Amino acid sequence: MTDPRSTERAEIAAIHEVAKILTSTQNLDRALGTALRTLQSFLGFDRTAIFRPDETTREIRMEIAAGYTAEQRERGRYVWGEGIVGKTMKTGSPIALPDVRKEPSFLDKTRSHGASAGEGPISYLCVPIKIGAETLGVLTAERIGRTGTQGLESDARTLAVVGCLIGQALKLHKAIGRLQDEFRRQRQEFDKTIRKTYRIENIVGQSKRMQEVFAAVTSVAASRATVLLRGESGTGKEMIARAIHQGGARADQPFVAVNCAALPETLLESELFGHKRGAFTGAVEERKGRFEEAAGGTIFLDEVGDIPLSTQVKLLRVLQERKFERLGENRPVPVDVRIIAATNADLEKMVAGGTFREDLYYRLNVIPVFLPPLRDRREDILPLTEHFLERFNREHGKSVAFGKDALELLLEYRWTGNVRELENLVERAVVMAKAPVVQAQDLPRAIRVSASLPAVGSYGQPLAPQASVAASATEPPHPAAPQEGRPRAEVLKAMEREELQGALSSAGWVIARAAKILGWTPRQVAYKMKKHGLSSPWKK
Ligand SMILES: Nc1ncnc2c1ncn2[C@@H]1O[C@H](COP(=O)(O)OP(=O)(O)O)[C@@H](O)[C@H]1O
Ligand SMILES: [Mg+2]
Repeated sequence: MTDPRSTERAEIAAIHEVAKILTSTQNLDRALGTALRTLQSFLGFDRTAIFRPDETTREIRMEIAAGYTAEQRERGRYVWGEGIVGKTMKTGSPIALPDVRKEPSFLDKTRSHGASAGEGPISYLCVPIKIGAETLGVLTAERIGRTGTQGLESDARTLAVVGCLIGQALKLHKAIGRLQDEFRRQRQEFDKTIRKTYRIENIVGQSKRMQEVFAAVTSVAASRATVLLRGESGTGKEMIARAIHQGGARADQPFVAVNCAALPETLLESELFGHKRGAFTGAVEERKGRFEEAAGGTIFLDEVGDIPLSTQVKLLRVLQERKFERLGENRPVPVDVRIIAATNADLEKMVAGGTFREDLYYRLNVIPVFLPPLRDRREDILPLTEHFLERFNREHGKSVAFGKDALELLLEYRWTGNVRELENLVERAVVMAKAPVVQAQDLPRAIRVSASLPAVGSYGQPLAPQASVAASATEPPHPAAPQEGRPRAEVLKAMEREELQGALSSAGWVIARAAKILGWTPRQVAYKMKKHGLSSPWKK
């Protein structure tokens, strides 16, 4: 007999090794195979195996094995309660036999014990793989030609611990599998909704300029070419980006949108490229970047003009070599993504001024698509209004229409917030409407007022010629109405201030909420607050 202390050390080493293997990988079957071979080599077992019941038939099968041939493994099947394996599965209690061939309930199903008949006793151990009271499977191990009760006891002890470890691993794996299934299901649902929302049929535009945009979308969708979408905020850049993605071969792959203006430099880099643990202060976990998330699909880089120069270099590399590096790692990762970028910034001017790399500009500007502001395509206003009315009536269970004079105001307004502003206005009108027809006086003051002022838009620029139509005569006078003798720009400024202040106070001075009311971007709201010297009364 070997020295008991060295046996104990081998046992502890084996358990330690098995624990490490079981927690180190996502491929459970491979880990279980390695665990069994580890038991063989550390403790000298001749054969080891893991049995698991089939979920529907309950037949107990040898699933992972070491020391058995493929045929022997295939024969290792038991019904519930049959043989030693079936008994352990049924009772959840371990069985340890000094010589298995003397055991009447031993069936030798694998027929692996006949050939070794002359080699003396075969000690056989069968322990349950358990989580609490539930038996998930069975672990067996045997030694040929050696006995001794002490050896058998210590083997049983070790295997019992390993059985527990395997039980934990199975449980964890099952939980992860369930989460992954759930995640996949949710993503499919979500993708379906998104696809419904962003089909090109849902994009409205009768103007010649939008028809040109649609033609461009259709022709570029199928390729992987980089697209640069230009246009003011709210003109539909993100919507067009999704339509390009949906129209291409990558429609089933992810569409990942990143707003490059929303994050400070280091965070933007780790957002885009991911990072290793400890890559910078605060990087406590390893993180996958958005490029990796978009693999096989499309990444939409919104506000690309806001990317700092140092990050521009890395983006250029992705465009040139289709490779990037995670923060804190210098191993290039290949990536297959389509890039669609969008900006409202004057990139050409930025290139001239040295704040945007020229090489990156050319790489991005392969297929430029320009989305015209709504005021330059007034023939889209009514179809868009129709479209949003239909949608919000459906969503809010109403059936509201716009009166003729209200529609006229919409046609004249400058729409600095573009389609987004119109969309928000229609939703608000539908929600607030007390009567079936929305009249001019039900519309927000900014719209009524700017239309009543001939020839000047709310931002001091001249309006398109057809836009100067007098406001309804029934309009009640309000404090900010244009007054005799006051310069028009000043009056307008006062009105804008009033509108802004009104929205802010009804939004509790939450900028994002006020932006929603006004149909502006939060950035526009913040800018105008500064311009008019307005600040939240809550802030000291
Ligand atoms: N042509 C259009 N047809 C229908 N809805 C549109 C159209 N253009 C924009 N929208 C809507 O207006 C809003 C703003 O569009 P978005 O794509 O986010 O603009 P941008 O990215 O240019 O700021 C979105 O809710 C979008 O659904
Ligand atoms: Mg946008």
